[in-house]
Amino acid sequence: MLKYAHIIGWGSYLPDRILTNQELAKTVDTNDEWIRARTGIHQRHIAASNETTATIAFEAAARALDVAQINPSEIGLIIVATSTPEYVFPSTACRVQDYLGARRAGAFDLSAACTGFVYALSMAANAIATESVNSVLVIGTETMSRVLDWQDRSTCILFGDGAGAIVLRGSSVPGGVMSSILRSDGSGGDLLRLPTVYNTAIPVLKGSYVNGHHESNTIEMDGRQVFRFATKVVANVIADAVTKAGLTMDDIDLIIPHQANSRIIESAAKKLKISTDRFYMNIAQVGNTSAASIPLALCDAVAERQLKPDNNVVFVGFGGGLTWGASVVKWDVTPPDMEERGSEWRRTRYVAARARSKLRQWQRKTSARLAGSPTPEARLKDADKQGTIAAGDNKERNQSIKKD
Ligand code: UT7
Repeated sequence: MLKYAHIIGWGSYLPDRILTNQELAKTVDTNDEWIRARTGIHQRHIAASNETTATIAFEAAARALDVAQINPSEIGLIIVATSTPEYVFPSTACRVQDYLGARRAGAFDLSAACTGFVYALSMAANAIATESVNSVLVIGTETMSRVLDWQDRSTCILFGDGAGAIVLRGSSVPGGVMSSILRSDGSGGDLLRLPTVYNTAIPVLKGSYVNGHHESNTIEMDGRQVFRFATKVVANVIADAVTKAGLTMDDIDLIIPHQANSRIIESAAKKLKISTDRFYMNIAQVGNTSAASIPLALCDAVAERQLKPDNNVVFVGFGGGLTWGASVVKWDVTPPDMEERGSEWRRTRYVAARARSKLRQWQRKTSARLAGSPTPEARLKDADKQGTIAAGDNKERNQSIKKD
């Protein structure tokens, strides 16, 4: 029998540092009026230097587990949607698994840009429906501030950092994720992209010069084209997901869209012939947080008591890829009394999980040393030596490119 995937926990994390439009206007040619009028954004949060995409994801996940009141060992799968991982591998999901001590969980990252959360929710619901797992942690997390060109006013004013997480659990009771529609159009990949340092035929290190350009990995966007694409697809995919769930727009209590631009949301409301009040918006406070934006908005909507048991909610995302998608979810939980959640006890477990992780690393190093194999540090030093030789080979090429 297929199982229903219910949302039983949610949590978010925003870095303390707030960057206002006025502050931005001191460093780049823009102004508060333009940003508010053209995007709806007033401010965004910026990660501290000791925060990473994985550490903020952990904070959001820990809060979601507190609400769900389950232990990390009950989680069977962790899916992290992000475009700003610290590493190509290990995945951010594996780092979160380690921080939580989720010792029975599979973990992987999912790349679908700003639609990542909707994609991950759909994958998680399918994994639960087919009973391959019963509890899944879905996280959207981004440190967009690290991949922005802070001199490019067409992008740096838009994005912010943050993380949001939900816990899904299987049940035979009808409800939870009722439909999902996922779409993509790779022909528009060049409209919004974040190159890696590996995207040239000759692998280069960040900061190298290639063909006279300073090679960087910052976001590149054709804002007008992406805007046009978004206004074309958002209303349609919402309508399709609602129909697929066997509902009509009248049955929908709240739509939680990806927070990219308040004008995109207004356009979708107009097309669907519904009031913008039925769309939840927190873009003014957080900006565009890419894959984190929908779960962050969900947490705010719950905190503001905009969701009640038996409400039907639509999540809709769109962005790089191009990708877009929507899910309809029956909301069936009342926010719990957090006093009774035992979060302190769970926090102690995370400290223990980190200690266990360190111990396992130490054990690995010790047994490698006893077996006479090089330690990871020695291997890195060796690789570095070889890298220096390779860089030496390329020195001439790099110098001639710089001269050009
Ligand atoms: O999350 C993934 C999905 N991303 C999106 O959905 C983003 C979609 N795109 C957008 O939201 C909008 O296109 C932007 C907010 C990025 C730009 O707004 P726009 O209304 O499309 O502006 P524009 O690019 O057409 O530029 C209009 C004018 C230009 O000046 P001229 O040529 O008319 O003199 C720009 O140079 O506004 C100027 N401009 C700015 N002025 C002050 C562009 N950026 C800024 C700025 N401050 N930050």
